Amino acid sequence: MALRLDTQPYWGETAFPSYSKLDANVRADVAVVGGGITGLTTAFLLAEAGRTVVLLERGRCASIDTGHTSAHVTMVTDARLNELVDRFGRAHAQAVWDAGFAAIAEIERLIIENDLDAQFDWVDGFLHASLGNKDDADELDALKQDASLAREFGFDAEFVEAAPLVGLPGVRFGSQARLHPRAYLAGLARAFAGRGGRIFEHSEASEFCDDPMSIKVNGHTISCADIVIATHNPVVGLDNFFSATMSQTRLALYTSYVVAGRVPKGAIGDALWWDTADPYRYLRVEPHRDFDVVIYGGEDHKTGQVEHTDTCYRNLEARVKKLLPPIELTHRWSGQVIETPDGLPYIGRVAERQYSATGFAGNGMTFGTLSGIMIADAIAGRKNPWAELFDPGRVAVTRGLWDYVKENADYPFYLVRDRLTAPDTYSLRSIRRGEGKIIERDGAKVAASRDDRGKLVMRSATCTHMGCIVKWNSAEQTWDCPCHGSRFTPGGRVISGPAESPLAEVEE
Ligand code: FES
Repeated sequence: MALRLDTQPYWGETAFPSYSKLDANVRADVAVVGGGITGLTTAFLLAEAGRTVVLLERGRCASIDTGHTSAHVTMVTDARLNELVDRFGRAHAQAVWDAGFAAIAEIERLIIENDLDAQFDWVDGFLHASLGNKDDADELDALKQDASLAREFGFDAEFVEAAPLVGLPGVRFGSQARLHPRAYLAGLARAFAGRGGRIFEHSEASEFCDDPMSIKVNGHTISCADIVIATHNPVVGLDNFFSATMSQTRLALYTSYVVAGRVPKGAIGDALWWDTADPYRYLRVEPHRDFDVVIYGGEDHKTGQVEHTDTCYRNLEARVKKLLPPIELTHRWSGQVIETPDGLPYIGRVAERQYSATGFAGNGMTFGTLSGIMIADAIAGRKNPWAELFDPGRVAVTRGLWDYVKENADYPFYLVRDRLTAPDTYSLRSIRRGEGKIIERDGAKVAASRDDRGKLVMRSATCTHMGCIVKWNSAEQTWDCPCHGSRFTPGGRVISGPAESPLAEVEE
């Protein structure tokens, strides 16, 4: 098959519902500007929380940045974990990755609860050395350090001598994901409309007013209590409204290039890959029934600073053909990523009752979804664990002491986090006398401990209060719940509440 010369994203062939232009004055609790992943997620979550919401898109939904993503759904940030720890301290580094992980879990929840056909699946992600640095001792140390830090923060991660496909040393991160971004957002748009949400396409916000709060669109007025700017680059066309915070942030815009093509079914595993080159290259698979599509990207440069951009495509094509000789290239396109000076996104309130989100770097799917969660929390008056960390008005994230997990144990994400992350062990044999570990059995977490005589006792690890996963207290030889402090004997009996019922029995 000949390579298409036009630059169309692979996702573009998937239908998206169309919506009419705004042609009358409307009133809503919240007006969301931008119909990509940030806008649609925010709009849906607010509608789910009982708000009336209007979403405005100046062109077609899911066609600009979200339409040009490669849709790696991951909490692995462009800034390496060891760099985040160096820059911001351990608690903040964990918080950044937790936030991304919470976003993946939220995407899965939205898909399941709304029955969306988004081709979502949990897959492994491999961060691996590039050919140029594979023998560099510092690089290998950094990879090992990333693996052990991730593991320490509760993520499923391990150093591997040879990552699949590339055969280079790297880190395997479990519980990453991939989806079809346009199919996902088409489903989310329908689910939003099903909850009474209104979407207007070809409806550009031309004027904003904060007293009374309103937006002019197509000569009509939207009156609302809160405004969310979800346009990826929040400065474009809106500098009179949002300049106070955003113009000082020195957002850096980069262009990233992607090629895609067919390979025989099963030619490579279903996973995500990134290398540690600068700029880095990324690869993922989009499975079909009779073949797979491989999506390969990289060659990032500051937007507008490379004249012969065709070379970027040619470099990618040459590399992916070397890696996967049978590939038949069918698509190529480019997208834009926005970086911030400290490497963390800006998400949250930019002025009284005005919110925005940008600076997602290579994590558009996860940070876009996270923005929806955080802005919906802010408007609904809910406390959010990451509000200060990603505050658009932050001056600097300090390395100070902060018991981040303890302070946020009540947040819904922490009620499910441990269910999604790595078990302590995969083998009952590794549990010694007087020790307890969380193991996984048929996808469920089990609290397994061995008494002083070597007898193994197993109970469900799910706390009977509100469903957190218990942790072994080695000094007391008890199972303690990190969320609200319930405690249980190794056999599951309640020592202290709020839980009232014992840990459930499991088949031994
Ligand atoms: Fe509340 Fe365990 S979930 S104490």
